[in-house]
Amino acid sequence: MEKYLINPNQKISKINKDIYGHFSEHLGRCIYEGIYVGENSKIPNVNGMRCDVVNALKEMGLPVLRWPGGCFADEYHWKDGIGPKENRKKMVNTHWGGVVEDNSFGTHEYFELCRQIGCDTYINGNVGSGTVQEMNEWVEYMTFDGVSPMAELRKRNGQEKPWQIKYFGVGNESWGCGGNMDPEYYGCLYKRYNTYVRNYNPDAPIKRVACGPNADDYHWTREVMDKVKHHAQGIALHYYTIPGDTWAHKGSATDFTQKEYYKTICKAYKMEELINNHLAVMNSINPQQWVNLIVDEWGTWYDVEPGTNPGFLYQQNTMRDAVVAALTLNIFNKHSDRVIMANIAQTVNVLQAVILTDAEKMVLTPTYHVFKMYKDHQENTLVGSYITTDEIKSEEAKRTCPQLIESASVDENGVIYSTITNISATKSSKIKCQIADTKVKSIKAEIICGDIHDKNDFDNVDNIKTKEFTDFRKLSDGFTANIPPCSVVKFVIEK
Ligand code: AHR
Repeated sequence: MEKYLINPNQKISKINKDIYGHFSEHLGRCIYEGIYVGENSKIPNVNGMRCDVVNALKEMGLPVLRWPGGCFADEYHWKDGIGPKENRKKMVNTHWGGVVEDNSFGTHEYFELCRQIGCDTYINGNVGSGTVQEMNEWVEYMTFDGVSPMAELRKRNGQEKPWQIKYFGVGNESWGCGGNMDPEYYGCLYKRYNTYVRNYNPDAPIKRVACGPNADDYHWTREVMDKVKHHAQGIALHYYTIPGDTWAHKGSATDFTQKEYYKTICKAYKMEELINNHLAVMNSINPQQWVNLIVDEWGTWYDVEPGTNPGFLYQQNTMRDAVVAALTLNIFNKHSDRVIMANIAQTVNVLQAVILTDAEKMVLTPTYHVFKMYKDHQENTLVGSYITTDEIKSEEAKRTCPQLIESASVDENGVIYSTITNISATKSSKIKCQIADTKVKSIKAEIICGDIHDKNDFDNVDNIKTKEFTDFRKLSDGFTANIPPCSVVKFVIEK
């Protein structure tokens, strides 16, 4: 029997809801088809946005949406995507699939999408191939309320009032697709571009995000932090879980062995080490901790589904992905003192998507159900918690991962939320939970679980869904439970 301790008296940090954020790029069928179908589509839509997808994202509690990329951001010229649609430039999306980008989804459509979802905004600016003036004018166009050429242009295009930008990214992957820069050079460039990202709304200053490292590139973090520490609120780490050892053979999303399952899970658990190490580097340069960590691209990355455009990054999603999502969100919760936002890649039809679409059909993936289950943590207070557990080793990943990974939070009414994932493919785990200074009144629990390969598809949309969980016994100061293999469980504890 594993021991699980929750201490609601130990209030650690507020869990910023933006940790549960998402990322939508002009890539494959994410924006076009997946979210935006245009006003004339047969698919029910409001101002071109698919009603089914928007409603599902609202229900899931999507708090913040990053756009327009990704690699696409550093080739995106925002003026191509405003004004009458028939006049918008058509061009080839050179990064992703070589398809025609007609710019019918642009700035106005992005803000309309966020309005419909009810989420905050995170825009990524173009440093790689854009000018300082272009970035400066975009921010003016979006947020200036006074008399200016860009504010006038926005009004002529139908938007009288300025919008609000919560986060603004100055470049993306500037170490790679965003310009192949050295960190010292990018750090200087960041300061120059960022100077002209003006705060036009003093009541809602924009949080600026500098391009952070690729996985464990600590040199990048050190050099960039040194330059941006007085000028950024966040630095953005990218880390993808890729089971294969080469880009050419990343592994199938659905057809994998138990060894490959553990390799994937153990690689995903590297997030814990990356956050600790990058924070240590950041703290050594900025002990005052002005700059926080953001993980604005994370998730699994497999070979594309057979027969699909390799540049569209379309992959299926199984219980393996649900476990990756659950363990990663528990890690983010536990680091919520310094991790202020994260964005899984990508919302619909791309990489570890929460939604898949096929024409008018829609499927919610196992990852979707994890995000929905975890939304109760948003804006709660992380509290102290600890669980004893075995370690599972993957020889292939040369890494280990705890069998049980958990986090616990408390809301403003004192209700405790505990989420636990059992990563074992085969073994259940008995736990005894004790909650400090608490007389438990009631407990409700829910679960998603299945075989590691289980998935939802267009013929069976509800194969994996959240169900009530009853295999637990309430105690006066906690509970005992039997956590099934390959599962994600949430306990809601009232006292
Ligand atoms: O999410 C897909 C791509 O992965 C993004 O465009 C890029 O930033 C990263 O390399």
